[in-house]
Amino acid sequence: MDKATIDRVCQWLDEARRLVVLTGAGVSAESGVPTFRDVQTGLWARFSPEELATEAAFRSDPQRVWDWYQHRRDALLSVRPNAGHMALAHYALRHPGKLMLVTQNVDGLHQKAGQPHTVTLHGDIAADRWLDEPGACCMAQPPLPGRPPRCPVCGNLRRPAVVWFGEALPADALASAERAAADCHLMLVVGTSGVVYPAAGLVHTASLAGARVVIVNPEATVLDDLADACIRGTSAGTLVQLLETATPPDMLDRKERTDRWIP
Ligand code: OAD
Repeated sequence: MDKATIDRVCQWLDEARRLVVLTGAGVSAESGVPTFRDVQTGLWARFSPEELATEAAFRSDPQRVWDWYQHRRDALLSVRPNAGHMALAHYALRHPGKLMLVTQNVDGLHQKAGQPHTVTLHGDIAADRWLDEPGACCMAQPPLPGRPPRCPVCGNLRRPAVVWFGEALPADALASAERAAADCHLMLVVGTSGVVYPAAGLVHTASLAGARVVIVNPEATVLDDLADACIRGTSAGTLVQLLETATPPDMLDRKERTDRWIP
């Protein structure tokens, strides 16, 4: 890793009063969670997103889609946050109100690491919701267990509470992320291929608004042209180096700390 680039980004971190970190599947790779688009190991190299991550797929074969998500949920039970997740959580705790973490990940590892506030753009794989608008019957009694569970009266199905292809992102999460991107001084973009919108659009927003953009990824990405610096490293090693060596907040000019987000 290029020491001069790391030092420059550490300096930018100290200077920034508002920092957005946008994460993708690569931040969880070192915890053993597969990414989506890595050529050999990515989920979309082995499975078809059209058959597993769309509402149409779920309606045509609910059991198959439910079982695939259940398999991923089961695999996540034994997974722990890695040093990158921990470095982000510690940094946020040491710099209250400075960092807004926006993630495309559904694995809950930022939250498990103790991140004080995480904007989740693509939902939460551990949670379920109703497939169709629930009627009073759906709320009146627990769903019948099954793959997937269903309402015993109308048959409405439970589905994973993740965003599938073709679906809108949760409006509140997207609005907070867009506001933060338009209003930050520095955006770190970590472990994402940057090909899925609207999440990738946040990087364009930050760049257009004049923020510095830093990309952390072992591979080149389609967003690299927007970046002020690209660090070709893995998430855990790089985030520890950047965030755990940053100047402690007490040593920064007190004036700099007056204009922060309230999480
Ligand atoms: P991708 O699989 O598209 O990209 C993962 C990125 O992580 C790639 O650019 C890798 O080079 C990088 N990477 C791999 N190992 C890494 C490591 N140890 N440290 C840092 N980077 C590493 O995953 P996302 O960009 O997150 O959507 O994908 C975006 C969305 O597409 C996902 O949220 C998901 C998927 O379909 C939904 O589920 C709605």
